[in-house]
Amino acid sequence: MTIKNITVLGSGIMGHGIAQISSMSGYHVILRDIQKELLDKAMEKVKWSLQKLKEKNKITSEQAEAYYNNITPIIDLEDAVKEADLIIEAVPEDFNIKKNVYKDLDEVSNDKTIYASNTSTLPITELSKLTNNPNKFIGIHFFNPPQLMKLVEIIPGLNTEPNITNEITDFVKKLNKTPIICKKDVAGFIVNRVFIPIVHEAAYCLDRDKISMTTIDSAVKYKLDFPMGIFELADYTGLDVIYKATQEMSSRDKKVIYPNPKIAELYNAKNLGQKSGQGFYEYKGDKYERIDLSEEKASKYDPISILGVASNNASWLIRNEVCSREDLEKALNLGMGLKTSIFKLVENRGIQNVVDKLKSLEKQFGEFYQPDEYLLNLK
Ligand code: CAA
Repeated sequence: MTIKNITVLGSGIMGHGIAQISSMSGYHVILRDIQKELLDKAMEKVKWSLQKLKEKNKITSEQAEAYYNNITPIIDLEDAVKEADLIIEAVPEDFNIKKNVYKDLDEVSNDKTIYASNTSTLPITELSKLTNNPNKFIGIHFFNPPQLMKLVEIIPGLNTEPNITNEITDFVKKLNKTPIICKKDVAGFIVNRVFIPIVHEAAYCLDRDKISMTTIDSAVKYKLDFPMGIFELADYTGLDVIYKATQEMSSRDKKVIYPNPKIAELYNAKNLGQKSGQGFYEYKGDKYERIDLSEEKASKYDPISILGVASNNASWLIRNEVCSREDLEKALNLGMGLKTSIFKLVENRGIQNVVDKLKSLEKQFGEFYQPDEYLLNLK
């Protein structure tokens, strides 16, 4: 089957970006949501992003206009999916919402259509069982902002036909992205298994080390070579996304996260990050905004426990054959913009120092910090 027509369900941060990059790669795209106001807001964001790409001479004015016009916003579900070869579901991360969406979808879509979910944490095999064709169901996990991040994790469920995995891999390459197969449907897949736990760890650092957010973030940026600080990234991603991912990942595997109550507090207070004007930091509006971080501040903090948690979870993924070390490093580079390999950072800081730090945290706070065999055996 040749994929030509794409329908993206859900026009939020991820949905509008996925629609945009699909349009930029020549697919006919329908963007579907339940209210006109949501679609209008999404199309405004597409316009802003295309304008940015035009300013940077990555596309011409004519291209920007054509890419924008190639996305049709639609509310009616049947109209939205009747011609679709591929449906990319990017609705909120809630099992019941997704369940209802798939039920409605099965009533109006065509048997040949591939369903791909952009879920960041829900189990693919279980989601696939909510549909009439679990063999045509797959996980396709993009990273925020999809317009700039090169990684797409592909997660086949237990029932996914191999030819569907191949078609989706080709599709991702046509989007000019790098597909990485997540070989096991584990909590958090690859990148979120590293990212979400370090948001919690950074929040513990605030209390334990009595140091400011911008100092920790500066150290993450300038000493661990992240493109953003970790609180900055959490706000950019959305505290609702972080909170729901935490709940889901912890319910699937207790050892994956040591939950810090600050995340639930921010979520319950509706301080969702950049999009609500307040998260860990305060923002002027809901537009793209960066936090002022500096090398001078970075020099005042050693982010060894954040490095320890990140490399420990990364080690778990490799030891459990979810992905190879090469794929892991590529995923963190292309999905989170990490400029230096996490294991290289551990080497630079001293493997034994990182292991000792984890052991001392394990003594105080329990088995979450227990160093993984893979990390212990690093040479
Ligand atoms: N489209 C087009 N341009 C965009 C854009 C978009 N969607 N978003 C930002 N830009 C623009 C900015 O406006 C900026 O333009 P100006 O130079 O005109 O100001 C330009 O891109 C570069 O931005 P920055 O100067 O802020 O520089 P940067 O080099 O740090 O790049 C970034 C920005 C690519 C976002 C980078 O900071 C980065 O990689 N951050 C990490 C993002 C990340 O980790 N994402 C994954 C989160 S986890 C996830 O998504 C999965 C999940 O399930 C939770």
